[in-house]
Amino acid sequence: MDQYLQSASTYLQACILESSRLKPLAAFSVPQSAPTDRVVSGYKMPANTNFVVNAYALNMRSDHWGPDNDTYRPERFLARDKVKLRYLFWRFGFGPRLCMSKYTTDIIIRETLVNLVQNYNLRLLDKTTRFRDKSCWITHPDFEICCERIEPETLAVSVGVAADGVTR
Ligand code: HEM
Repeated sequence: MDQYLQSASTYLQACILESSRLKPLAAFSVPQSAPTDRVVSGYKMPANTNFVVNAYALNMRSDHWGPDNDTYRPERFLARDKVKLRYLFWRFGFGPRLCMSKYTTDIIIRETLVNLVQNYNLRLLDKTTRFRDKSCWITHPDFEICCERIEPETLAVSVGVAADGVTR
């Protein structure tokens, strides 16, 4: 299990990437500017012009994702070359102000998800309240999840742990 959680090439990681693609933490990046004039795809950006990256434009509306761009399909990340994705997918930012926790965060998310799924029965309390507040830059999901702790004896039966402690 430790090896699986450390790896960034698993189906679990693909699920995390696909969730981040469709529900990015923030709709836009933090504004940044270049100290000199730049030309980007034919557009002149004068020095010190603030710009932001539109997360939804890049992660969903770009032609790169194909016709099922708004569908949750983690498999798309298993098939893609991660280096090619570098500037096609916005998540931890780009360049010198990149998120400092880019690598550790995913390990924490993977560990947390596995812990939740292994030890809790999870269900949505009210499916009808699942929407995104579009007036806000940060994604604030407005729904509740019920987490019921699975008692250790139930867990032992469901994963097949015998009285001698051996997993079968
Ligand atoms: C899913 C979790 C996270 C996401 C999606 C995320 C995303 C981001 C983004 C988009 C930026 C701005 C990058 C830019 O302006 O180009 C950023 C900056 C930053 N993040 Fe994160 N972050 C996450 C978790 C964390 C955690 C857990 C930490 C620390 C323990 C952290 C530390 C930082 C720091 C220090 C910066 C500023 C870097 C700088 O300005 O030089 N982040 N993050």
